Amino acid sequence: MAMCPPNSDNRACRRPALEFVAVRRIKTVSPSPETPVTGVTKPRDHELPTEQFPIGRGASLAELDNDPHPLLARLRTKEPVSWLAARGGWLVTRYDLAVTVMRDPATFTVDDPRFSTSRVVGPSMLSLDGADHLRHRAPFAHPFRTAPVKDRFAELIEAEADRLISAMPAGSAELRREFAGPLAAKVVTEALGLRDVDVDTVLSWYAAIVAAVSEVTAGGPVTQAGADAFAELKAAVRRRCSKALAPEGLSHDEVASNAAVLMFGGIDTTEGMILNAVRHLLANAEPGTPPLEHTDLVPNAIEESIRLEPAAAVVDRYATRDVELGDARIRRGDLVSVSIAGANRDPAVFCDPDRFDIRRANARLNLAFAQGPHFCLGAQLARTETAIAISRLLDRLPGLRLDPDHPNAPMGLVFRKPPELHVRWTV
Ligand code: HEM
Repeated sequence: MAMCPPNSDNRACRRPALEFVAVRRIKTVSPSPETPVTGVTKPRDHELPTEQFPIGRGASLAELDNDPHPLLARLRTKEPVSWLAARGGWLVTRYDLAVTVMRDPATFTVDDPRFSTSRVVGPSMLSLDGADHLRHRAPFAHPFRTAPVKDRFAELIEAEADRLISAMPAGSAELRREFAGPLAAKVVTEALGLRDVDVDTVLSWYAAIVAAVSEVTAGGPVTQAGADAFAELKAAVRRRCSKALAPEGLSHDEVASNAAVLMFGGIDTTEGMILNAVRHLLANAEPGTPPLEHTDLVPNAIEESIRLEPAAAVVDRYATRDVELGDARIRRGDLVSVSIAGANRDPAVFCDPDRFDIRRANARLNLAFAQGPHFCLGAQLARTETAIAISRLLDRLPGLRLDPDHPNAPMGLVFRKPPELHVRWTV
């Protein structure tokens, strides 16, 4: 989808773009006490009684990065809104409370100076709330709905998946670098409408912008490489769109900011979604039987996979006022993170929540794509991409199984996926 909104006279530009690697960096790193924050209070660990929230206070980032689920289960039971000292903010792990936060942007906003992505790529739908958020998001919404996604992308995804599978060596492959990563990058490039730009160039912009966001998050300036990459992306976006038009109330710079956000959104997350789904299916298959009895089960298996291991595990908000949530007295300016991974295993909603059950009736209630005004714009595209990826892998690679000689546990504080996924099949 190109970035120009639908009122453009340039038909090639009628298809919008995608968001999000930045979320990993921006939203994972705790706000630095040095970061100047106008009009909000600073992190206030020292103000809270030390006997409160012992589980959250004792939690380490390493624990959340490696296998967070036992910790999240303890938090959900005892401290569903806990003070996570390691991140200098609150962590919400209960499903109902997670939904409350995500659906109340007036109290829990993304629009905060600590949100570093906007300092690199400018304000976008990801960093705004209220009327401004709607103004930035609305022009991009239509091409991401179910029918347009199928029409525009299914064929491309299938062709690219087949091309990547055909290029694999016989009998074994590492699916992150040889399949899921390149597939996600190709689809985003197409979604951005950047057909005159090759996938490697898009990936290099992405890497430079992510590095710049990390630098800003750590208190540094925007790197020259990051600024240059964004300038190149902006120029490419501009080439796709009619210069004469200010599309649906967005300036060309604003279109470019949202294009960057769409690019961030579609690469790491979708790569993770595909890898986690393949891993869940193969790890849970009975030896000697296919991972799925019917292809009809693919959509629910995907929902169950993103419930159990959401590719984006945490989203961040900032309190706009003092508010009580669970047992926590949140103060204006506090960082409030929602653990999607925690909420998705809440036994009050999902019985036997640690089990992978491809027939789970309410798997689709998972919060992997968030809720409320920032509900993932690319959800249908990511679902379509993952469904086609799984179907092509299972069709083309008979006896597909995990390679027992390589570890495949998912890792990551925010973006969770196996760093490598080695598989074998019968040739
Ligand atoms: C083609 C793939 C994707 C695209 C184009 C995309 C795009 C976007 C965009 C533009 C937003 C911002 C919406 C807004 O703020 O109004 C967003 C939000 C979000 N996306 Fe995606 N996304 C994709 C895949 C995924 C995947 C695979 C996941 C996880 C399984 C995911 C999880 C999320 C979450 C949790 C948010 C909410 C962020 C927040 O509230 O702070 N996305 N996505």
